Amino acid sequence: MRHFLSTQDWSQEELQHVLDRARALKAGASSSALAGKSVALVFFNPSLRTRSSFDIGIVQLGGHAVVLDARAGTWPMEMVEGAVMDGEAEEHVIEAAKVLSRYVDMIAIRCFPNFQDWTSEREDPLIMAFAKHASVPVVNMETIVHPCQELALMMALQEKLGRVENKTFLLTWVPHPRPLNTAVANSAVLIASKFGMNLRMLIPDDVYRLDDRYMSAAEDNCAAHGTRFEVMTDVEAAYSGVDAVYAKSWGALPFYGNWDAEAPYRAKGAGFMIDDAKMALTNNAVVSHCLPMRRNVKIADSVVDSPAFLGIEEAENRLHVQKAMLEALARDMD
Ligand code: CP
Repeated sequence: MRHFLSTQDWSQEELQHVLDRARALKAGASSSALAGKSVALVFFNPSLRTRSSFDIGIVQLGGHAVVLDARAGTWPMEMVEGAVMDGEAEEHVIEAAKVLSRYVDMIAIRCFPNFQDWTSEREDPLIMAFAKHASVPVVNMETIVHPCQELALMMALQEKLGRVENKTFLLTWVPHPRPLNTAVANSAVLIASKFGMNLRMLIPDDVYRLDDRYMSAAEDNCAAHGTRFEVMTDVEAAYSGVDAVYAKSWGALPFYGNWDAEAPYRAKGAGFMIDDAKMALTNNAVVSHCLPMRRNVKIADSVVDSPAFLGIEEAENRLHVQKAMLEALARDMD
């Protein structure tokens, strides 16, 4: 039995098999891989794309989705082992994982960090507890990484660019009124480097460097492929000659839980919105975002509404890559 918690646990070859199968499913191949099977989709945070695409994909594979809104429709959950549960939590994740495992064949979890204590939240405690105590495969629908988004992004890049090896991928921090999860940024550097792309990261200040776990993994991937990994603060230099631009905003880890102090650093990125002038510096690059996205804050309308924008294609690909991944996990259970 195998989980899908992070692409770091899967080889490039295994992920490429999933992407190849996703392409076949997108082209119309049918599958009954989940016939007679149920999947619990447990959401601790809001969603439009993840919730819809998982639910529909499971039905298309012949299965049944049980959607649980864990913030409103289930018991408040404790995730710390050994906790004295005299607070709000009525249920421990240990029982939740074991009981759901008796009902369903897979459990998918969305649980963002609380933005209070990165030292503990970087351990991804809730999904790790589910993976430990469940007796069925556990799938990550976004925690501190977003592996399904990674696959959808790579599928869209391969569709548009063909072979991505040695092409240059720019992850750019973009403005947002408040600090956001680093998950998609972590995932972007993991997948681009894993698939042999030169990686650039554009940030307003060094405080926006990602957790060393992901920076180091990206460096290792680039070293293995003989590609470059550059962290830059100069906008013109960062956009120069790139083949793909990926937009994301995130909170600076040194100010985790003390966000007011981050404001001056956030202000340094006020000019980082993706616009036509920046895109003109690229190698006719494609541009994407995981969505949801604030127009004219993160990316200008003129770029979003141009043929270069892949965000809708990437969102569609969520459906296909997730079906392909669920098929692979189901096959592993047989
Ligand atoms: N990209 C993504 O995961 O979208 P949702 O938050 O709407 O699910």
